[in-house]
Amino acid sequence: MDNFLINGGRAVRGEVKVSGSKNAALPILMASILTSDKMTIENVPDLTDVRFTKGLLEYLGKKTSFLRGVFVIEENRKLKHKAPYNLVRKMRASVLVMGPLLARFGHARVALPGGCSIGVRPVNIHLDALKNMGARLYYKNGDEMLFGGNLKGGRIKFPFPSVGATENAMMCASLIKGRTIIENCAREPEISDLAEVLRKMGASINGDGTRRMIIEGREKLCGVWHKVVCDRIETGTFLILAAITGGRLILKNTDIKYLPVVAGCLAKSGASIKTVENGIEISGPKRPRPVSIRTAAYPGFPTDLQPLWTAYMSVCSGKCFVEENIFENRFMYVAELLRMGANIRIEGKRAFVNGVEYLKGAPVMAGDIRGGAALAVACAAARGKSVLRRVYHIDRGYEKLEKKMRKIRVSIIRRKNI
Ligand code: EPZ
Repeated sequence: MDNFLINGGRAVRGEVKVSGSKNAALPILMASILTSDKMTIENVPDLTDVRFTKGLLEYLGKKTSFLRGVFVIEENRKLKHKAPYNLVRKMRASVLVMGPLLARFGHARVALPGGCSIGVRPVNIHLDALKNMGARLYYKNGDEMLFGGNLKGGRIKFPFPSVGATENAMMCASLIKGRTIIENCAREPEISDLAEVLRKMGASINGDGTRRMIIEGREKLCGVWHKVVCDRIETGTFLILAAITGGRLILKNTDIKYLPVVAGCLAKSGASIKTVENGIEISGPKRPRPVSIRTAAYPGFPTDLQPLWTAYMSVCSGKCFVEENIFENRFMYVAELLRMGANIRIEGKRAFVNGVEYLKGAPVMAGDIRGGAALAVACAAARGKSVLRRVYHIDRGYEKLEKKMRKIRVSIIRRKNI
């Protein structure tokens, strides 16, 4: 397992090219199951979860190639209709094959994914949505057995705007007869990007980006070309890296419109942010003012940037709190920040932060994608040397993170743990 060796304490300076969005690319690649035509998807980030999705699509029977961000998917043999446990357990997003397989073939067998370090992460909302479109559900040896029978458009009202469940429902509804109405659906930019792809494929989708989507399914969907939207979570990660180090960055191939609440919080903390051509420019404060946040579904403060915000506030000039409302166990990284001298107390859904003047380098360990990224950012800001272990978590969600950080003056190298 690789480590990062980081010698922190220097303000970042320079330009970062933001990659395509992992959380848009994954469902868009799964949407290729809805057609036997060729799909060409550009601006796909080269990271472990994308590589894993490539393996899953090939297991199902697709032929794929992935080079310099261009992902090509073709079909020249009958597809399997199941995603087994040994594949699903390694990447939860594998459950996104359910909707496409069900719509295309009338049945699907998908292993129940386990939880992960940030929560139990059940799939009940996904299954209820598919049942509202006529799917019948059985369980066998820990797998969901979904049978289509007479799949037809239905009415779905989500109890919570689940991103994945919205994506599964959209893909299924696009290839079955009739109209599907989804109330209280997720509104993230990644949802709109998937809707754009499905429209290009021939589905009629209205209301993406709002709480209510209406989808008219089609008999057949065709292959398309698409360029994936920028990664707003990577964007937020580098904005916070500039802010916590008091540095100055220009982020290219991105847009602050995808992070309205985060931009406001950064400005309140003392950073200055402005839109530049095809990107964003940020200058960090000498020392951030305390700004409390509460995570919420889009367009609220994104849960994926919650760990990054806590790291940033750990050196603020006062007291604040960070409230996590999406996942039940997303403060694991705080124990590692305490090893770096942070002063944070967890009480239920809140981390109460008492800002310290600076963090100190220390050996720390990543436990999930965004917690790991928060520790990388904290180590880059801390005084002294750090070793960040289990960076494979970070590799799942960030494309060449250490290379991008090195380019903007962070002293960071990857050490292969033989
Ligand atoms: C997506 O996960 C993202 N992953 C997550 O990013 C992100 O944190 C999350 O949305 C919230 O924005 C991808 O897009 C691949 P949810 P997803 O369904 O779809 C509960 C990252 O770091 N829930 O909106 O799994 C669930 O337990 C990852 O890039 C149910 O109870 O998120 C959680 O508490 C981490 N039943 C909450 O809803 C269900 O059937 C949000 O889940 C589904 C979800």
